[in-house]
Amino acid sequence: MDYSTRISERMWNQPDKGELEAERENTFIDDIVQKAHIEKELLSNLDCIGTVFDGGAGCGRFSILLAKRGLKVTHFDISRPMIDKARELAEKEGVLDRITFVQGVLEDLSAYEDRSFDLVMSFDSPISYTYPHQEKTISELVRLARKRIMISVSSRLGALPYLANPIQKNQFILDKDSKDGWVQWCLSSREQMIEAFSFSKDTIMKTYETGLFGDLEESKKAYDRGEAPWSISYHFMPDELKAILEKNGVKNVELAGPGAFARTIPNEILVKIVNNSEQRKQFLEFCHMYDSNPYVCGMGKDNLFAKGEIEDEN
Ligand SMILES: C[S@@+](CC[C@H](N)C(=O)[O-])C[C@H]1O[C@@H](n2cnc3c(N)ncnc32)[C@H](O)[C@@H]1O
Repeated sequence: MDYSTRISERMWNQPDKGELEAERENTFIDDIVQKAHIEKELLSNLDCIGTVFDGGAGCGRFSILLAKRGLKVTHFDISRPMIDKARELAEKEGVLDRITFVQGVLEDLSAYEDRSFDLVMSFDSPISYTYPHQEKTISELVRLARKRIMISVSSRLGALPYLANPIQKNQFILDKDSKDGWVQWCLSSREQMIEAFSFSKDTIMKTYETGLFGDLEESKKAYDRGEAPWSISYHFMPDELKAILEKNGVKNVELAGPGAFARTIPNEILVKIVNNSEQRKQFLEFCHMYDSNPYVCGMGKDNLFAKGEIEDEN
């Protein structure tokens, strides 16, 4: 196992990971928008699908959703705390018998035969965390798919504005009184982040050119000191992701950028919309349509979404 995989493994296996990830949609509006987009895509693309592989399935947001629809799902993840949380939630939903939980790394899918699953999916960037193996990971995920593939990876164009906006997450806080540590950190560090900020064209250009957030050498040193640094992640350009999928034989590739519309709206208005059930429903429907427009797909909040069909064997 190389350094980057070991860094990911330690980071995602911190004990509180499962609990925190399971609460994201109660905490941040960008997560609501992103997960709603993926849910709509999944539920409208289930024709001819009986078996599913969910790579980097986390606490089961989508594996459980599909198991509840009667599908047989392999829930695959690097993190034991995530799998434990997913198992607990699957039991509550009465779908334990339809989910196989596997702890493993996306960098090694050799245990699975070609075309083992009707649908292969991997959402909210597990592929990006396999850097420097992200292209091989996509090719392996395509190899496992019989009919369809749906993925979301970190978006380069979407993430670059963070380098000019250290308080970007504040825009999406749903409840300022939440006990969530991240919410409280965003609020308490806001002024200091603004004070300490300075724009650097060199830094932003480097990230624009490499797609890499984080410094692998620094992360290696922190890992060796016994810390759990954030894994290095690779951010894709839209045309790059499309080309990789097509090179691997995926047809009819369509991209989207969940969050592209929501990021134009200030926090006070977003909170108002999301707290009104009828407006929230209409808003999420509109976001899905707007964010699916190919002209804005690169500007999703964090993720670049892609779906495509696998060629018939004959
Ligand atoms: C942000 S969560 C997304 C979870 C889920 N797919 C969702 O959309 O709600 C990313 C997940 O990827 C998993 N992950 C990260 N690197 C991985 C790797 N190399 N192999 C397998 N899983 C990985 C993490 O443990 C985590 O559960």
